Amino acid sequence: MTFARIAGTGSYLPDNIVTNKDLEKTVDTTDAWIRERTGIEQRHIAVDGQTTVDLAEPAARKAIAAAGIDTSEIDLIIFATSTPDKIFPSSACILQARLGIQGCPAFDIQAVCSGFVYALSVADKFIKTGSSKKALVIGAEVFSRIIDWSDRGTCVLFGDGAGAVVLEASEETGILSTHIHADGQYEELLHVPCGIADGFDRVKAGEAFVEMKGNEVFKVAVNTLGKIVDETLSANQMEKSDIDWLVPHQANLRIISATARKLNMAMDQVVVTVNKHGNTSAASIPLALDVAVRDERIQRNDVVLLEAFGGGFTWGSALLRY
Ligand code: ACO
Repeated sequence: MTFARIAGTGSYLPDNIVTNKDLEKTVDTTDAWIRERTGIEQRHIAVDGQTTVDLAEPAARKAIAAAGIDTSEIDLIIFATSTPDKIFPSSACILQARLGIQGCPAFDIQAVCSGFVYALSVADKFIKTGSSKKALVIGAEVFSRIIDWSDRGTCVLFGDGAGAVVLEASEETGILSTHIHADGQYEELLHVPCGIADGFDRVKAGEAFVEMKGNEVFKVAVNTLGKIVDETLSANQMEKSDIDWLVPHQANLRIISATARKLNMAMDQVVVTVNKHGNTSAASIPLALDVAVRDERIQRNDVVLLEAFGGGFTWGSALLRY
């Protein structure tokens, strides 16, 4: 049986850090409010001209180096983002050219904060069916560009960054299962209410910003993530105690803690980066995974649960043996 195994991870954050204290100077908020409600202390924000693919490229190169392969061996690129460099071509195609490779399929996936889990799920299927041997899967965002920096309800939450993994076809175990879902009826609880086909005048006017009914999103997120945990464990006939690490989407420490409680997991088994990175949407899981792989918390053969919830609503999980 062929598995998709993570052969290498990489990540990249812009140098520019914006602290809660910095935001106190521009909106009516406090460091204490942000820490208490979200767990966030700071976020990295791209400087003018720095794009999603600019962040993705070093993350991808680090993942390729960690996998010990040559860039030319990559035979699939899947790029999760809601903040692509261009309307088209896809960020995956732009990155492919930057990496100096041609010919392999390259495409974007847009599932907001669940984007990386969606991308991993698709790449897993390419590998299991023999269509890919070495896939590059990326989550990268510059959410700072679609934030209204005068809206204290959203501007304190998000950050920019990129994370990547190389998935390799392997006879050893790797991804055990993936589970992805969506429910479009919640569109207006979390959205950018304009785009190309509808409201492009607002996009041109620089008014394309994230709008969120945070409290309502919070409740659905906690309930839904509880259900995805049950679905994932039952699909693999595993017990909660079989999971070594939880690498959740990093939206809010209170949502992460609720999922950990559901799993009876101590917080020292949970990889938390939201304090330093904020919510980097599709980048948050591969960023957190890379941090915990590089500081050697996550070891080969550990059982790792990835889970995410985001705009759409979309949600999903991946259970893997690292
Ligand atoms: N500083 C100070 N006060 C604030 C701030 C702020 N930055 N933001 C909001 N407030 C105020 C509100 O105006 C409100 O004041 P009021 O009571 O006078 O009306 C009060 O704080 C409470 O507001 P709530 O929205 O009820 O606060 P809550 O405890 O729910 O925290 C938060 C808000 C952090 C946004 C939380 O709801 C949350 O994390 N929601 C989920 C976000 C999420 O997971 N999104 C999905 C992924 S993101 C994606 O897919 C793009």
